[in-house]
This record gives sequence, C-alpha cells and structure tokens, in this order.
Amino acid sequence: MESLYELRKQDGKDRLVLAIESSCDETSVAIVRNGREQLSCATATQTDIHALYGGVVPEIASRAHTEAICGLTEKALKDANLTLESIDAIGVTNTPGLIGALLTGVCFAKGLAYATKKPLIAIDHIKGHTAANYLCFPELEPPFTALVVSGGHTSLFAVDSYTSYRVIGSTRDDAAGEVFDKVARVLGLPYPGGAAMDKLASEGDPKALKLTVSHIEGSKYDFSFSGLKTAVINKVHQMEQKGEELDHKTKCDIAASMTATLVKTITSRLEAYFEEFPEIKGRPIVLAGGVAANSHLRKALKETTEKYGAVLYQPPLSLCGDNAAMIASQGFYEPILESESALKLNAYATARINPLKKS
Ligand code: KG4
Ligand code: ZN
Repeated sequence: MESLYELRKQDGKDRLVLAIESSCDETSVAIVRNGREQLSCATATQTDIHALYGGVVPEIASRAHTEAICGLTEKALKDANLTLESIDAIGVTNTPGLIGALLTGVCFAKGLAYATKKPLIAIDHIKGHTAANYLCFPELEPPFTALVVSGGHTSLFAVDSYTSYRVIGSTRDDAAGEVFDKVARVLGLPYPGGAAMDKLASEGDPKALKLTVSHIEGSKYDFSFSGLKTAVINKVHQMEQKGEELDHKTKCDIAASMTATLVKTITSRLEAYFEEFPEIKGRPIVLAGGVAANSHLRKALKETTEKYGAVLYQPPLSLCGDNAAMIASQGFYEPILESESALKLNAYATARINPLKKS
C-alpha cells in the first residue's frame, strides 16, 4: 500500500488530506496539502465540560465528539474553500486514546470514506504530535530523535523514517501531563492545569521543595513520574492537615520545584542517550505534545541540545495540543487503505509503536 507522499513523488501532483482527531477531549478536523501546508483546522474543545469533574469523563467525551464532528468537517471544508470532491484521502487517529472517543472518529471517517469513495488513512496520535513540526519547519525530515510529552504519553523515539518509530524510553507509570494536571488540582487550579502551573512555576523557587529525579533500575531511558506526583500531593495534604496556609507564594514554590524535577527527569534521559550514542548528536531533536508548550521544558531542552551541539525543533504553542492538522500531516506519509481494508479499520486504546531492540 502506497502513501500519498510516494504517489506525489511519482507524478508531482498535490495531495490533500482531510483528517479527523478525536482521541481525547478535542474534536478536530483539518485539511493539509502535501503533509506540510495547513489549509484549515476546525477544533472544538471539551475542557469546560470536563473541568466540572476535574478530568476527562470518557463517556461524555464520546458524546461530545459525536455532536461536534459533522459541523467541524463542514467548517474545515468551508474555511479551506474546498468541497469533499477535491480531497484525496480521509485520515483519522485510530490509536492511542480513549477507546470510545477514538471509535467516534474512526466510524465517522469510515463512513465519509465509504460515501465519497475516497481511501482512508489510519494515523497514530503520537506520530501525529511529532508531525506538528512538519507544518512549521519545511526542512525537517527523518531521521531524528523525537520527544513526545503529553497528557497521556512521555516517550523518546528513534524516528528512522516518516512512518518507522522505535521507542528508546517511555514512562513506566504516569505521563508528564498527568503530573501537571493532578498537582494543579490539589493546588486548586482548574482542569487542565498545565498552562497555569507553567505560570506559577515562573514566579516560584525551584529549590523550595526537596524532590528527587527518579531512576529506573536497568533502564537509562525510561521515565517514572508517579513518585514525584505522590510526593507533591502528600506535601500539600500534610500542609492542609497542619492548618498551614497554601498561599500564592507557596503554590508558586510547589509548582516551580515540581516542574524543575520533572524537567530534569526528561533532560537527564536525553543526556544519557547523547552520552551513549554520540552519533545521534548530528540528528535533530524534535519536541512534541501538549506539555511541549511548557516554557521551562522548552528552555531546558534548548540548553541540553546546545550543550551537545544538536539542533532542536519545538512546535509553536498553537500546534502543541491536540489538533487534526498534525494528524493530516502524518497521514500524508502513511499508507492509504483501499475500500476493503478501510472498512475493517479498528481503534486501539494503547500505543502500537515497537520498542527499540536492545542489543
Ligand atoms: O497532547 P495533549 O493535548 O493531549 C494528549 O495527547 O494527552 O496534552 C495535554 C496535556 C495536559 O496534561 C495539559 O495540562 C498539558 O498538556 N499542558 C501543559 C502545558 N500546556 C498544556 N503542561 C505543562 N505546561 C504547559 N504550558
Ligand atoms: Zn495528544
């Protein structure tokens, strides 16, 4: 099965992907030309609904996707001044994510592809996050090292080609975004708390709390964040039990200390990778995912990559969070599914990227 990228290499013709993203709490539909040029991106966020519960409620997410998806598809076409006829393929995120939410997008995309007789493309959400960088850095192409840091994932990948990813290291428990959101919750910040934590951390003292960078026996590159999350939550609960006030300064210090430790955990894995494989210094480092918006992480990664002489790509904040433009971009490079295999397409809640084979 060929990709639109390969087809374009053969005939030089432009290819348009209309992609659908519904893996978590953002419904998004976008149209991208040749994997690189965003023509439209219509997104509806559900954060206000889930904020009432302090986190994403899967059943509510699925229903909200169903309500939004048709209107967003019409809007994406209208904003790009296009009709469905001019689209070359329908792309859809089919893994990883909330299964009900993913299925909403997959079923809609299958129906759309069937009705319009267009091929379908299945896209991995994590690869999609990385592809956000293709939309703003025309010169970027594999091979490179990708660091995907989001609400559901924290992983370091060797990206050998547009479609071939191998996991170098991954979180053993919580994702970085999960830590930001849970700590934000105990500090009384609304969901999702990542951006608010970022601001608080800028005003606080990163050394105020003694927190440790986790190490995992037998794995230099894997991450673990649940210990950090629990340590910070326990600290806040202890303060409450003692009747100590959680004033603005204390919140800032907690955010700054937690952020510094989390960022150090991430940069330490990257440093270990640079030390063990000096040859990767010549490859770009590509940051992606919702937590890629964190100003402290961005600054620290810039310092680390400069130290090792590697080029760093960081997407603009507008492309860090979930959106369908990044999915459409990745879709350009993925194999197209013709009618029979398209109708069999399923959704998968857990990631399907293979681990790096240890020699
Ligand atoms: O990639 P994303 O939109 O969804 C997933 O695929 O998981 O990531 C969402 C996560 C949330 O946990 C949110 O709090 C976090 O990204 N986030 C941030 C910042 N902006 C969003 N975390 C830290 N600092 C930020 N500035
Ligand atoms: Zn995401």
